[in-house]
Amino acid sequence: MDVLTVIKSRRNIKKFKADSIDHDLLTSWLQAASLAPNHRMTEPWEILFVGPKTRAGLNHKSNFGSAPVVLAILSKKGNSVVEREENMAATACFIQNFMLAAWDAGVGTLWSSIGITPKNRTVLGVPDDYDIVGVFGVGFPEEIPEAKPRTPIEMKIKHLS
Ligand SMILES: Cc1cc2nc3c(=O)[nH]c(=O)nc-3n(C[C@H](O)[C@H](O)[C@H](O)COP(=O)(O)O)c2cc1C
Repeated sequence: MDVLTVIKSRRNIKKFKADSIDHDLLTSWLQAASLAPNHRMTEPWEILFVGPKTRAGLNHKSNFGSAPVVLAILSKKGNSVVEREENMAATACFIQNFMLAAWDAGVGTLWSSIGITPKNRTVLGVPDDYDIVGVFGVGFPEEIPEAKPRTPIEMKIKHLS
């Protein structure tokens, strides 16, 4: 797919097939994702592959749509408020890269904010110097939802003098 088609067709997937994902392929998407912009080359992202026992402890309401793979993606807080914000922005770019690379190969992602709770931070064993940006189900979609309409971009644009 060309890049615009990948961007426009990606959806947050709620239900996955059981089919496994080739681990080398998955790693190649994460490697590509790490080409994300990041200020001062902090490369703030860290990836946790969440195994079945830990996953059960997270107690997600849909069990991540029965995805065969669950990843937690963390962002290093850094040494200042500014660095933390910049690192979060860089990790969001990393995540988008990853989601688009996966989608191009027919693999979908479910983004969950479940990592924000203290309980789930503990289950994932995340140290205090990291934010959990999201926990992701990853797998081949069982269903692809319709696109959710977006506000016309003209309504979001202001021109400054
Ligand atoms: C920071 C962030 C947190 C999100 N957390 C959740 C979540 O907890 N549960 C969920 O179902 N979707 C979550 N999403 C996905 C959005 O709900 C989804 O992207 C949005 O509904 C638009 O759908 P689309 O991605 O298919 O276009 C999150 C997305 C972002 C960027």
